Amino acid sequence: MAVRVDLNISLDGFATTTDQTPENPIGEDWSRLVAAYVATRTFRERVLHDSSGEGSTGVDDDYAKAYFAEVGAEIMGAGMFGLHSFPDDPHWRGWWGDEPPFHTPVFVLTHTAPRPSIEMAGGTTFHFLSASPQEALDHALAVADGKDIRIGGGATVVRDFLKARLVDQLHVAIAPILLGRGIRLWDDLRGLESDYRVTAELAESGTVHLMFRK
Ligand SMILES: NC(=O)c1ccc[n+]([C@@H]2O[C@H](COP(=O)([O-])OP(=O)(O)OC[C@H]3O[C@@H](n4cnc5c(N)ncnc54)[C@H](OP(=O)(O)O)[C@@H]3O)[C@@H](O)[C@H]2O)c1
Repeated sequence: MAVRVDLNISLDGFATTTDQTPENPIGEDWSRLVAAYVATRTFRERVLHDSSGEGSTGVDDDYAKAYFAEVGAEIMGAGMFGLHSFPDDPHWRGWWGDEPPFHTPVFVLTHTAPRPSIEMAGGTTFHFLSASPQEALDHALAVADGKDIRIGGGATVVRDFLKARLVDQLHVAIAPILLGRGIRLWDDLRGLESDYRVTAELAESGTVHLMFRK
């Protein structure tokens, strides 16, 4: 069992984008940041439910496949789930449609009033809780059936788990773009690399995949 993170960041280290508007709550920069990942065959199949066989099949796809493999439960923040973008919508069910790509229990960390769990098609259930990283991890471990726990994001929650030294495997896909502002993954984590063996692989898209393994 490993606690895993997979994150896309820009060359200047940002894991979030800042050009969202009420009309475009995702923004233009998001598609630049995750272009190589969403182009993969695995993303198309797993997230877009596209079984045409289209999509890239090189190094980026190898990492996308690994992203989904052997995960027994997921932890994410209120920001990634979308509670900050749609704070007044009590019926918000996440960005991923009726059948989200997780197919596991997903624990959404939030300080807002308790929300009932949401059961989605395909085996994803969203549970909402206010807990420390270690407590959230204990909840996830209890239901993960011995498989890995993925800390899905966003930037704040990943940084909290890194700061608490709870992450066994950190995969960072560095897109060859500059975002200039946002939440920077690496701030206040000086010396983090000393806990890990680090490898790097260059994909055809120009994305550099850094893997930190304990
Ligand atoms: N680069 C990537 O690969 C990647 C992946 C996923 C997401 N993202 C991006 O990340 C952004 C979201 O990240 P973010 O940093 O803004 O937010 P986030 O990490 O998703 O969530 C942070 C929020 O979660 C709640 N929270 C965190 N820890 C908690 C705890 N221990 N107990 C209770 N609640 C807790 C708090 O919200 P409340 O106090 O409001 O409840 C906090 O403001 C989005 O823009 C998304 O696009 C990027």
